[in-house]
Amino acid sequence: MSGPLVLAIESSCDETGIAVVEGGRRIHSNVVASQTALHAATGGIVPEVAARAHLRWIVPVLDEALADAGVTPRDVDAVAVTYGPGLAGSLLVGINFAKALALVHDRPLIGVNHLEGHLYAAWLLDPDEPEKAEPVFPLVALIVSGGHTFLVEMTDHLTYRLLGQTVDDAAGEAFDKVGRLLGLGYPGGPAIQRAAEAAVRRDAVFPRAWLPGTFDFSFSGLKTAARRIVDGARRTEGLDDPEATLSAATTAELAFGFQESVADVLVTKAIRAAEEVGARSIVLGGGVAANSALRQRLASEADARGLPLIVPRPGLCTDNGAMIGAAGARRFAAGERAGLDLDARPSLPLARPAVGAR
Ligand code: KG4
Ligand code: ZN
Repeated sequence: MSGPLVLAIESSCDETGIAVVEGGRRIHSNVVASQTALHAATGGIVPEVAARAHLRWIVPVLDEALADAGVTPRDVDAVAVTYGPGLAGSLLVGINFAKALALVHDRPLIGVNHLEGHLYAAWLLDPDEPEKAEPVFPLVALIVSGGHTFLVEMTDHLTYRLLGQTVDDAAGEAFDKVGRLLGLGYPGGPAIQRAAEAAVRRDAVFPRAWLPGTFDFSFSGLKTAARRIVDGARRTEGLDDPEATLSAATTAELAFGFQESVADVLVTKAIRAAEEVGARSIVLGGGVAANSALRQRLASEADARGLPLIVPRPGLCTDNGAMIGAAGARRFAAGERAGLDLDARPSLPLARPAVGAR
């Protein structure tokens, strides 16, 4: 493989990720320092705590990423960094660090949209992975994370048309809130998946918000329904003490029912969108794409229609530097350069006017 060697930095939320990626595809190194344990204590992310943790970890993560790849900053062609969307304080740490590296080592700086990173994770290849075909355009991508849930059509590189998005909570947010309701701790997504895998009874039915006629999603009603269903189950089990938790069997049954509801809506809409735009492949990304039930369900529905599905391995679905390197290389190849005045854009949308929004 050839192409630019990009040093990429991701610090938009609660993972400090730095990677070295070649040609927008081949991972040379990809180091992630996760703050999950830190935020588990507070049951969610406290922005200032997250920003300070980035400050603490960014230098050791860089050292490890360079050592793993066997390069120095002088060997890379560009420094890419997430500049939005995300938490302002967290973004500022990565952006300022990237600016310093670019300035000191006289390398171009590339600003990358975090959501574009989740999309471009589909192009990544692990260090020893055999070459494989790239996703074919036009494609439909479903990006589901803790902060975002949307369906987008890509007719070419860096060219997006938003088909639908959540009108309230993101899918990952729903997983995290229902995880908390079930006493499973933070983050709720992986915990709900683990609980659901142990479900023997699979009778609990959770509602689905179809929002007919659109590719939009809504998960706030599901969250409210989950609260009602959990309260009902607590009464059935005679739990008066608010600290008492449901039996493992009931927790598993409810986790399974909730996960089915989310996966059902996401998969049905993604497939319908792919059919409507005549997509030649489907991409799944974002932290919730690590969910095995969602992956399996989308894989079987796509397979039934002869549509290739590209889903990065779970570690590349959750936030990481490599995905920023993949997207950054495309922006670099397109001639984009960020100035040293690059600022954090906490609410940056995916489709910037200059890059193919229709
Ligand atoms: O993409 P990501 O790492 O960060 C954001 O950009 O938001 O996504 C984090 C989200 C969290 O809400 C987490 O609960 C969810 O992804 N998640 C999962 C799983 N692993 C992570 N949700 C369901 N099943 C999983 N296995
Ligand atoms: Zn993310």
